[in-house]
Amino acid sequence: MKNFLLVLYLTSALLFSRELPLLDEKAISSQAALFLPQGYTPTKNPSLAFEKPLQTIGPLSSDWTWKPRFFLEGQKTKVLLSLPPGTSLYGTGEVTGPLLRNGKKITLWNTDNFNFTKAHGRRLYQSHPWVLGVRKDGSSFGIIFDTTWRADLITLSRKIIFIADGPPPRVIIINGRSPQEIVKMLAHFTGKMPLPPKWALGFQQCRYSYDSDTKVREIAKRYRRDHLPCDVIWMDIDYMNGYRDFTFDASRFPNPRATNQYLHQLGFHSVWIVDPAIKIDTHYSIYQQGSAHSYWVLTKEKTPYEGIVWPGKSVFPDFTIPAVSQWWAECYAPFLAQGIDGVWNDMNEPAVFKTKTRTMPEDNWHRGGILPAGPHLMYHNVYGMLMAAATREGLLHASPKQRPFLLSRAGYLGSQRYAATWTGDSGTAMPYLQMTIPMLLNLNLSGESFCGVDLGGYTGKTTPELFGKWIVLSSFFPFARAHTDIANPPREPWVFGPKIEKVARVALERRYRLLPYLYTLFWKASEQGEPILEPLFFAEPNNLSLRREDRSFLLGEDLLIIPRWGNQKIVPHGIWRTVSLLENHQENDGYQPIIKIRGGAIVPLGRIIQNTTENSLEPLTLLLCLNEKGEADGDLYEDEGNGFDYQQGDYALTHYHASLKGKILRVTIKSRQGDRPIPPRRIHLQVILNDRVIEKEGIDSQGVEFNLEQDTSPKTS
Ligand code: NOJ
Repeated sequence: MKNFLLVLYLTSALLFSRELPLLDEKAISSQAALFLPQGYTPTKNPSLAFEKPLQTIGPLSSDWTWKPRFFLEGQKTKVLLSLPPGTSLYGTGEVTGPLLRNGKKITLWNTDNFNFTKAHGRRLYQSHPWVLGVRKDGSSFGIIFDTTWRADLITLSRKIIFIADGPPPRVIIINGRSPQEIVKMLAHFTGKMPLPPKWALGFQQCRYSYDSDTKVREIAKRYRRDHLPCDVIWMDIDYMNGYRDFTFDASRFPNPRATNQYLHQLGFHSVWIVDPAIKIDTHYSIYQQGSAHSYWVLTKEKTPYEGIVWPGKSVFPDFTIPAVSQWWAECYAPFLAQGIDGVWNDMNEPAVFKTKTRTMPEDNWHRGGILPAGPHLMYHNVYGMLMAAATREGLLHASPKQRPFLLSRAGYLGSQRYAATWTGDSGTAMPYLQMTIPMLLNLNLSGESFCGVDLGGYTGKTTPELFGKWIVLSSFFPFARAHTDIANPPREPWVFGPKIEKVARVALERRYRLLPYLYTLFWKASEQGEPILEPLFFAEPNNLSLRREDRSFLLGEDLLIIPRWGNQKIVPHGIWRTVSLLENHQENDGYQPIIKIRGGAIVPLGRIIQNTTENSLEPLTLLLCLNEKGEADGDLYEDEGNGFDYQQGDYALTHYHASLKGKILRVTIKSRQGDRPIPPRRIHLQVILNDRVIEKEGIDSQGVEFNLEQDTSPKTS
């Protein structure tokens, strides 16, 4: 039967497939080309991936020979790109499975996918019509299929096939010398992640749900009592009154302002969830306002579409209409006035219960405004991103002096402009934990560097051992939030007994020590579009043995993280030395991943603090590992940690340099940019040598100089 269907498909594809000529091809930068097929119509293919409308800069150079071919197949469009042998493919957004995407098929159709079981996990909450290719020699390319329609993306070894359920899209091809260059160019076109507030880099605790403010206070207090560093407590849907957005349950959360005040006093921030489904309730003001202006997504008969989600029968704001996005943004001011620090947009694929497709009908109608009107099939994949864009506007409008923090489950290529994301309702068992690495790496290679997972696993049972394994790894992820489903017993670190609580404390203390480095990486991501997590092959793009490696990964360029199941033998060439971030071998507990520093790197570390409101840089530790030439370099970015004054110069970017001349090692500040005054401060230097670690104290403005040979530090084994 399967074979028969395949033959039928191939015959009909042959019969009904018509190649579309290229209408136009233009350069959009010296390294990027835009291809327009016949039949491309902007009103049928709204472009939402790009930060700014694409500008062409002239004709395509005559030596650009690699071009996509377009075919019309009934209502679908197929795009074909042939590949040189030995090309490794990556990106493709939020996907399950290995890092290397050769030989994979995914569907771009944002899907509420509990446990990643639907369609065997081949479609998830976000869609990225994007492929990063790395040729044998390390030179690289990127392809953007500029369409929001549902599509299949098939990444074979010698070709890429993209089949959209819509009209012919534009295709953009970026060409570059390295994968790094391509990812930066992707960010140049689709936007960079705005710098988040520093507290959002801290560890975060959530569950579905802390269902009363008493419970929230208890959790916060326990974190402080047990000296487990933590910055954020999350409120899932049960804080609401009957799951009505922007309301609070009068008995369980009678005074959200006081709850937030309490959290703030203990150095926590709070994030509260807001879903798109609006309860149909004529006494509910949000429903009244939206209905009065006809703000809801319509059915094909042009009546408000009703679907069932947490609040029961609900309607859904049509974020393609500018007035709706503006109204939605305005809803946040009174909400945030309760002392709320950040927002979580969930279920925004949009998820709809009790339907076969788990979402709204494809022929539902969006009315647009600046965007063209069109069916849900055209807007489904960007519904979550449009919601996130409106929410971000709302946060900025309500608190113009605060950097917004927003987490969105659904997303599309370019979503990093508005929100951080996480991989949704992951299972808990070991394969899910192992999959977090390739999932987050490919998200980073698709422009979404502020990403994380449900630390601990969302669905299914756990054990103390397994929780230990989750927390030690996820503490290295850009977004680090523990979370779990309502069906599960509590999963805070102390629940698993003193041994695992200690493992968790060590993991969190390592994260907090790394915060100055991590914050610098976030700043670089926000300025230059660099990924925060990088696959190992980034260290050596032409080393084919690294192309599949997705157990170990890089945090920035300078730290290599090797989980306990990682293969230590797969390490890029050059110097990589194991480092310890804590004293007394606390990290050797059998759980914590191994950390190696790159030869040539200086990595700034802070003190262990309990939350980011404390100053961690007195003293500042510099981990230093010389390269073959006896040199090392590293940056430290500092600012207020919130607000926008850094854009006016209130920041300090310090470049530290170390060089070994004869036996004398000298560490100095090579340059400092920005107007932020940094008083002279103590630095604690840790020079990682082959067989020992030399420790020295100094004042950073004066530099540190000493004779390496006269050091008496004990040798490490
Ligand atoms: C689905 C989300 O993925 C999950 O994280 C959340 O806890 C539930 N919705 C309830 O809000």
